[in-house]
Amino acid sequence: MPTVVFEASEFGPAVSAEAGAGRLIDACDDARAPVVFSCRDARCGICRVEVVEGEQHLEPPGRGELDLLERLGALPRLRLACQAVLRAGPGLVRLRGVIGRGG
Ligand code: FES
Repeated sequence: MPTVVFEASEFGPAVSAEAGAGRLIDACDDARAPVVFSCRDARCGICRVEVVEGEQHLEPPGRGELDLLERLGALPRLRLACQAVLRAGPGLVRLRGVIGRGG
């Protein structure tokens, strides 16, 4: 299972979690990650995160995520934490929330 590290932000301290394959949002909720959510449905974009390390441990973005990231000019470096999906297997994913960082 991948280890997911959420860097500290103005919304909370850094945390890490051992996450199973599946929705990144569940790992965020379980770890009380310093990532902000609102719609949780690829509509608002507030949950944008930069994948600092370990992009290969995430499934490619789906259509809804791609559409919003494109509209926000956030491709290719950002993902939506409410939509991204972790792949199974060992590895490290390091994420940085961009809200409040001008991202
Ligand atoms: S919480 Fe709104 S797009 Fe992710």
